[in-house]
Amino acid sequence: MRLLVTGGAGYIGSIVAQQLLARGDDVTVLDSLYRGHREAVPEGAAFVEADLLDPAAVGAVLDGGGFEGVVHFAALSLVGESVEHPERYWRGNVVGALNLLDAMRAAGVPRLVFSSTAATYGEPAVDLITEEEPNAPVNAYGNSKLTIDRMLADEARAHGLAAVSLRYFNVAGASGRLGEDHTPETHLIPLVLQAAAGTRPSVAIFGTDYPTPDGTAVRDYVHVDDLARAHILALEKAVPGRHDIFNLGSERGYSVREVIDTARAVTGREIVALEEDRRAGDPPQLVAANARARAGLGWAPEKSLEDMVRDAWVWHQAHPGGYGA
Ligand code: UFG
Repeated sequence: MRLLVTGGAGYIGSIVAQQLLARGDDVTVLDSLYRGHREAVPEGAAFVEADLLDPAAVGAVLDGGGFEGVVHFAALSLVGESVEHPERYWRGNVVGALNLLDAMRAAGVPRLVFSSTAATYGEPAVDLITEEEPNAPVNAYGNSKLTIDRMLADEARAHGLAAVSLRYFNVAGASGRLGEDHTPETHLIPLVLQAAAGTRPSVAIFGTDYPTPDGTAVRDYVHVDDLARAHILALEKAVPGRHDIFNLGSERGYSVREVIDTARAVTGREIVALEEDRRAGDPPQLVAANARARAGLGWAPEKSLEDMVRDAWVWHQAHPGGYGA
């Protein structure tokens, strides 16, 4: 297929672009490089530096480009920032997606796979989160992603777009020369590995009084290679005039302490972990039900938490300061 990957210079977008290229798709990456890395754009992909907030630039890429689909990652994704500066998320994520849909409609691009999030569910007190769980975001990041999901449902109904939203739980790991490099880094596994490498003195455990088996928060971690594979399945299975939503998780949660212990075992390093207060807005447990993705996409995660930590560790050692360092 001839595909446009927005945000293809970011962590997940670059790895999806890499998998698409590996199976012979023709890939163009569109990225503003505001938070993405030029070095992350896989070899073999065409690259356009453009911002989705510039409708003329987006239109110029799509118009006459012959694209058969778009995989849309380009977005802001820091929960804390979204609470402090919601307008950045409403404009960057929601207006950006609207501009993209306008350009797709004008150019007649038939399908879209969208990077949605478990943050659309908020803080549900259930063991396994299904797609039927009510939407109840608790921050502007989740609100912006849910709004785009709803835009896609309307667009599919009105104009026949084949649309799929993939709701990620906690994505981790690396894929060959591509890995996770955020500034600031807020995610648990990269921070734990920085503590293992000695580039930070310790890692914080945010909250030890949660109603969970060991008192620390539980999350559902998915290897980025498994996650990327789901995008390809979604591109193949998207149905014209429909908007489908799939959770991408493993139905298995790990606590913060379990993640740190796994990193100790994988790296063989001492990792100093300091118990701190809860981080604002962190629910006790978020674990996905994935029956719908199994049935609808034929997808199931294959890689373990150990695989994620090991692959992220290999990448971290090759790129101790991230891309471009
Ligand atoms: N944590 C620590 N110490 C740290 C960092 C994180 O204890 O230094 C804990 C958090 O409290 C949380 C768990 O580790 O319990 C995972 O935290 P991450 O920041 O790695 O991930 P989150 O679960 O907070 O966030 C993820 C995605 C977000 C998304 C959110 C809800 O990264 O984009 O899930 O779907 F919004």
